[in-house]
Amino acid sequence: MAVIIDGNKIAQEIRGEVRAEAVALKKNKGIIPGLAVVLVGEDPASKVYVTKKAKACTEAGFLSRQHKLSVDTAEADLLKLINELNADRSIHGILVQLPLPKHISADKVIAAIDPRKDVDGFHPYNVGSLLTGSPLFVPCTPRGIMELISRTGISLPGKEAVVVGRSNIVGKPIALLLLAQHATVTICHSKTKDLAAVTSRADILIAAVGKAQMITEKMVKQGAVVIDVGVNRLDNGKLVGDVAFAEVAEKTSYITPVPGGVGPMTIAMLMKNTLDAACSQLSGHS
Ligand code: GUN
Repeated sequence: MAVIIDGNKIAQEIRGEVRAEAVALKKNKGIIPGLAVVLVGEDPASKVYVTKKAKACTEAGFLSRQHKLSVDTAEADLLKLINELNADRSIHGILVQLPLPKHISADKVIAAIDPRKDVDGFHPYNVGSLLTGSPLFVPCTPRGIMELISRTGISLPGKEAVVVGRSNIVGKPIALLLLAQHATVTICHSKTKDLAAVTSRADILIAAVGKAQMITEKMVKQGAVVIDVGVNRLDNGKLVGDVAFAEVAEKTSYITPVPGGVGPMTIAMLMKNTLDAACSQLSGHS
């Protein structure tokens, strides 16, 4: 029977560590890490995320700045705000909540963020540096998955890792991180032939598709580690992952639940990235 990886507990540990480091940074260097979160429009899910991020900042002892812009904000005005935040020495991290309204190019906006303040790890400089192995920032959800794996004591060198999903935010970066830790990595997607044959080879299976309970027991090897990144709401209102948890858990050695697995790690790693940003800007890189 599987060990259920407790993401809430591990995220709390990390947030405690970050808070302690922030206290020390303030005491020793007089620096308070600052995060600016930019929200354009009224998307209800984005509003919830932005509120959670601000609350986490306050709890960590950070400076939290929220910029809530109307849905019809011009792209040029958003770019101007990004430039101001790039120049603002009290702000170490900048996060523009996605998705943006259709008339604004997310690519242009992300590229305008100073890579040294890109705590989302979405800037092309950081994406490219992840490929070569030395990014300033790794996107928060994949970084959180790697923390869950390492803090659970799961070894990666030589393991077969299969990632289902190829998004820029999760699938592609987690594949690169697993590869950097010497796993043998396969990325699957909607055109993969005989998906079950590939997933059944996995010692480590990462499900990041966004399809409720699509990974079933037949697709998983006995003793595998299963990490579920999906967050899907069923018609009855229940929140489930991409993995059919009850049946798959029977076969796994370790599994993450939804909710309470990967989800809480994302904000914990955003706090860690913001702390890292403050420390590196302090040491003269800005
Ligand atoms: N929208 C959904 N997930 C994310 C994220 O990790 N960062 C940003 N900026 N927007 C998102």
